[in-house]
Amino acid sequence: MMRMKVFVIAALAFASLVSFISAIHGSEPHLSSFFEDNALLSSLSTQQPSQSQPLMVPITVINGAAAKGAVCLDGTSPGYHFHPGSGSGANSWLIHLEGGGWCNTIRNCVFRKTTRRGSFKFMEKTLPFTGILSNKPEENPDFFNWNRVKLRYCDGASFTGDGENEANQLQFRGQKIWLAAIEELMSKGMQKANQALLSGCSAGGLASIIHCDEFGSMFPKSTKVKCLSDAGFFLDAVDVSGGHTLRNMFGGVVTLQEVQKNLPKSCLNQMDPTSCFFPQNLIQHVQTPLFLLNAAYDAWQVQESLAPRSADPSGSWKDCKTNHAKCNSSQIQFLQDFRNQMLNDIKGFSGSSATGLFINSCFAHCQSERQDTWFADDSPLINDMPVAIAVGDWFFDRKTIKAIDCAYPCDTTCHNLVFK
Ligand SMILES: *[C@@H]1O[C@H](CO)[C@@H](O)[C@H](O)[C@H]1NC(C)=O
Repeated sequence: MMRMKVFVIAALAFASLVSFISAIHGSEPHLSSFFEDNALLSSLSTQQPSQSQPLMVPITVINGAAAKGAVCLDGTSPGYHFHPGSGSGANSWLIHLEGGGWCNTIRNCVFRKTTRRGSFKFMEKTLPFTGILSNKPEENPDFFNWNRVKLRYCDGASFTGDGENEANQLQFRGQKIWLAAIEELMSKGMQKANQALLSGCSAGGLASIIHCDEFGSMFPKSTKVKCLSDAGFFLDAVDVSGGHTLRNMFGGVVTLQEVQKNLPKSCLNQMDPTSCFFPQNLIQHVQTPLFLLNAAYDAWQVQESLAPRSADPSGSWKDCKTNHAKCNSSQIQFLQDFRNQMLNDIKGFSGSSATGLFINSCFAHCQSERQDTWFADDSPLINDMPVAIAVGDWFFDRKTIKAIDCAYPCDTTCHNLVFK
């Protein structure tokens, strides 16, 4: 009997955003535009109820950010959530970059200003710290007593843009936000860190790859610095209609937000800026030890990059992309090809002894933030190893971690996301 865990996402929570579509099609949300994509990402990061009450951490506004031009899309100051380290973790720092899609046009950046992804005004002022951010050793064995920071995402370009659009009162200051946050945290004690980990999930996981070496260069050589990208390995893949949905979207983000200014020169010397926004073209240039944690059938990429409504106008992928159990054999084959492309893209990366990998054959997205996927009695495993142990063993050099799962449907430990 299959013991596969299924996690149903209540998509109706964001029904207001898609109500005009729901009115036509009943209760089924169509996650076809990048407006709705933001809603999908919000629902994906919704915390599962955990047995114990999570630590709630208030937001801190970044001092003097506005004076440095480090502002959210709407000009408000950015913020972060900080819980101080203690005991053996007092001089260890974890910086976790929040995710939440991108904005690639004036129109959807203007919309984003009215959400928590584009304005301080709309951010939750307190967030639960779970998974890699948890303060409990039984939930987070290696990082629970570190100084832990969650940097909020309000620029729409993975903390890398630098520009503005005056006519629409849009500020694209992701790079400045990143730098202002690091500067403030350095002054709060991070400059004395003896070890530091930059992590992030989804758009934040992409940012942790892009900024990994920059982060490493901010510390003396004696500091142990590493980076973790969770669900940040966005592939430059062909969608179900033979198009390049994600490349087109990334192209818009890069151009609109002037991202090329802050992409690694080592990549730009060889490729166009949009290509250099894709991790597959960046990881070979990263010098700082990097760990890639990703589901081989990343739920966001399946829905928004491979089979978005625009690439599937007849809706033949609708059932499969929201519930893997409803895929037919040719759809499964398409998804296996996607996994093969991912594995192929990390071959060279995998060869380096400093890198880490945990690529499980699940339909998931962001497995380090949620307690149930990071470290729990029934959390996902590869070779009996949960994500938290894999990342901890790699960070502390206890073991070499190159965990690549067998192909779907062999893994019975997944917490697959199913959308209603
Ligand atoms: C799977 O479903 C797709 C879309 O409905 C269809 O085009 C394809 O022929 C099906 N394949 C098989 C093997 O049934």
